[in-house]
Amino acid sequence: MKESPQLKRGDEVELEITGSAFEGKSIARLHGLVVFVEGAVPGDLVTAQIFRTKKNLVEAKIVRLQRPSPLRTEARCFHFGTCGGCKWQHVDYQGQLQFKQQHVIDAFERIGGFSNLPIQPILGADEIFFYRNKMEFSFSDQEWLELPPVDAIKPAGLNGNIYLGLHVPQRYDKILDLKECHLQSQESNKILSFTRSFARETKIPVYSTDSDSGYLRFLVIRQSKRTKQIMVNLVTRTDDASFMNSYAEKLKREVPQITTIVNTINTKRAQIAFGEQERIYYGEGVIREQLGNRTFVISAGSFFQTNTAQAERLFETAKDFGELKQSDVVYDLYSGTGSIALFISSNVRQVVGVESAEIALKDAERNVVANSVTNCDFILGDLKDRLTRDIDWMKRYPNPDVVILDPPRSGVHTKVIERIVEIGPPRIVYVSCNPATQARDVKLLCTDKYRIAKLQPVDMFPHTYHIENVALLLPK
Ligand SMILES: C[S@@+](CC[C@H](N)C(=O)[O-])C[C@H]1O[C@@H](n2cnc3c(N)ncnc32)[C@H](O)[C@@H]1O
Repeated sequence: MKESPQLKRGDEVELEITGSAFEGKSIARLHGLVVFVEGAVPGDLVTAQIFRTKKNLVEAKIVRLQRPSPLRTEARCFHFGTCGGCKWQHVDYQGQLQFKQQHVIDAFERIGGFSNLPIQPILGADEIFFYRNKMEFSFSDQEWLELPPVDAIKPAGLNGNIYLGLHVPQRYDKILDLKECHLQSQESNKILSFTRSFARETKIPVYSTDSDSGYLRFLVIRQSKRTKQIMVNLVTRTDDASFMNSYAEKLKREVPQITTIVNTINTKRAQIAFGEQERIYYGEGVIREQLGNRTFVISAGSFFQTNTAQAERLFETAKDFGELKQSDVVYDLYSGTGSIALFISSNVRQVVGVESAEIALKDAERNVVANSVTNCDFILGDLKDRLTRDIDWMKRYPNPDVVILDPPRSGVHTKVIERIVEIGPPRIVYVSCNPATQARDVKLLCTDKYRIAKLQPVDMFPHTYHIENVALLLPK
């Protein structure tokens, strides 16, 4: 590791925090270097200790807060600072929105090379706590202790306990045993605490990847914000009907608002909250959520937008940007479970979705039937192939009037971009959860045929640095 000439590990320095960079890290400048300061807020004056130096990158942690930023606020959660969930709870919400807006601008200016951006003020959330409709908690036999010494870990099996909560940042084996969480709901907190106590009473072992043995893996809670239905999904390594029956019976009595209880069995080593089998112990095994005037049936393995209210705002923005007409044919590329397709279907003639994950596509088809919609078709396949080689499906539909893109964080493949430009739709609406890859892709889309007409950031995840952005591209 090459150390910078001016600063070395262990140095204490005074820093004026001037900005917020990608991934929510606060920055200061010293001797021409950028210093990233954990937990700082732009506007703070701090004494910080350098703990890492590498080329032009220096990282420091706060030793003393000399003058707090006016954007600082009291974090509501008892676990703030340790938990990986809400990194920005100590920043006033208007301040968070200001930083997120600036992140979008920075990405489009620095990565996209654009200037004079037609960007609209960010759409903030009305509910900044308890906004999530899904939470995933992990079981572990190793606890992350919050009390000093900060990096102390209680060794496995010391008190025969079971820990249930969220991971601390960058420590995927260690769990913060959550006493409260302000992201989902009070019912969710009750389910979390009951499940932990029940598991401790029964002394059923936690799954360990090292030994590939044990039982408990994840607790996933989904709660519809519109229908209020609640699903509890316990993810385990094996099938233990006697444990599950007794758990479901007692849990139902403890939290009567629960509408369904499911057990997902994942026998594989991969630590994911999905599995090969799903067993229903109570209710229908699904919950229903509404987006706009559409109802979505969500099973334990389905993807669904986690902030219902802001997903509606995001899709409303995409709909407005598309200037949709009853005669329009729309390609919904990266269509997932069809939420955008369904959301806009009554405003257009035809929507054609393209999606590579079969499970998501099946959910999309099921949602279309559940909503009695007849003008949405879905094509399975990798978009790169479906737009370049296997293109027979395109002959069945007129050329699109609007192309909507909602890719994963990695963005759109260059070949897909080239084909869209060749097809030349009159309107392109690009929905993104990663402004950096969006700016890169929009630069390519805009080379000679298109221009950015509008940008609209939308905040889906208050207290985190994540930001969604919708771009409208029109022909030059
Ligand atoms: C951000 S999600 C879109 C979600 C969708 N709008 C919804 O609400 O369900 C991105 C989707 O792109 C799909 N995907 C990723 N790479 C793909 C590819 N190369 N071709 C087609 N679909 C892809 C993923 O499976 C995922 O469903």
